[in-house]
Amino acid sequence: MRVWLTGGGGFVGSNVVRAALDAGHEVVTTAATFTPPEGAGYQVDHLDMTDESAVRASIDAFNPDLVINCAIMNDWAQLYADREAAWEAYVGATRHTSAGAADADATYVVVSTDWVFDGTQGGAHEDTPPNPINLYGALKMASEVVAIERGGAVARVSGVNGLHLARPATIRAQDRGFGYFVASIVDALEAGNPFTVWEAPEINMRSTPSLALECGEIMMMIGEQKATGIFHCSGADSVTRRELAELTCEVFDLDTGLLQYGPPDPDSLMAAPIPHDSSLTTPRTEKVLGHAPTPVRTLLERFRTQREEGFA
Ligand SMILES: NC(=O)c1ccc[n+]([C@@H]2O[C@H](COP(=O)([O-])OP(=O)(O)OC[C@H]3O[C@@H](n4cnc5c(N)ncnc54)[C@H](OP(=O)(O)O)[C@@H]3O)[C@@H](O)[C@H]2O)c1
Repeated sequence: MRVWLTGGGGFVGSNVVRAALDAGHEVVTTAATFTPPEGAGYQVDHLDMTDESAVRASIDAFNPDLVINCAIMNDWAQLYADREAAWEAYVGATRHTSAGAADADATYVVVSTDWVFDGTQGGAHEDTPPNPINLYGALKMASEVVAIERGGAVARVSGVNGLHLARPATIRAQDRGFGYFVASIVDALEAGNPFTVWEAPEINMRSTPSLALECGEIMMMIGEQKATGIFHCSGADSVTRRELAELTCEVFDLDTGLLQYGPPDPDSLMAAPIPHDSSLTTPRTEKVLGHAPTPVRTLLERFRTQREEGFA
């Protein structure tokens, strides 16, 4: 396939690029600031994803089989400070990329999130109606509707862990979600430092972790099968932060004695509410793609292997 995506220099996007290259596909990614190293094996078009004509021209020139909108305006303070820009970056970019995909007769995927649910909908499946409780979730839900109404697919990723393949030196820190949670524990404990697992009602306490590379692989399945509708790119197990931290120690052979439990760093909290239990289930994804979700232990073992092999 010829795979065109936005945000290939990001955490999830760099894994989508890798999954596509591993499957033998040709890749073009857009980037805002990222430049890949010489000989990376794929092409980068520097453009702003909110610039409709630049997006459409890039898709047009490559004539892809699969278009994935993975880029994101990721700064929450900026989202709330400039809601028009936020709308353009999420919903506008989804409109531009999905229109480009339609012109190219390509399969379309927008990457979304488990945070389209409200945190009381634990075990939500692909057809559970979303109920976002913050601006990020609302922007993602609106983007999902655009993609679905245009005959595309939605790939909801959840609790994404793994390696940032475009910028391996990116600082991995715990936040109010589950992204980078495992890497931040491994980094701390390997250095012999204690790690406080945050526990509080106002953060994401339960999720269904995934591995970024496997999310990319599921997106390739969507493209290969020209699938439409909503898919959950998540693992098989719903876990708490504490359970995931303890399992991480087991899989990475780390000292659980260095784990502590306590409230989050107040600076990491925002006025916006965060879903408490954002766990997902995957019945439609299994049925349509024939992909059974991977147990969280297996995902962690795969992450450990990637790390040890200097995968980045
Ligand atoms: N990480 C998670 O745990 C998680 C969880 C749920 C859902 N997701 C979803 O996964 C997707 C990727 O998230 P991520 O965590 O990988 O994000 P990320 O690492 O922050 O990457 C964001 C990417 O978006 C690009 N970008 C930002 N503004 C742009 C603009 N105006 N024009 C073009 N490109 C722009 C950046 O380009 P440059 O690199 O070139 O600067 C960057 O590559 C998002 O849709 C997000 O909602 C992630």
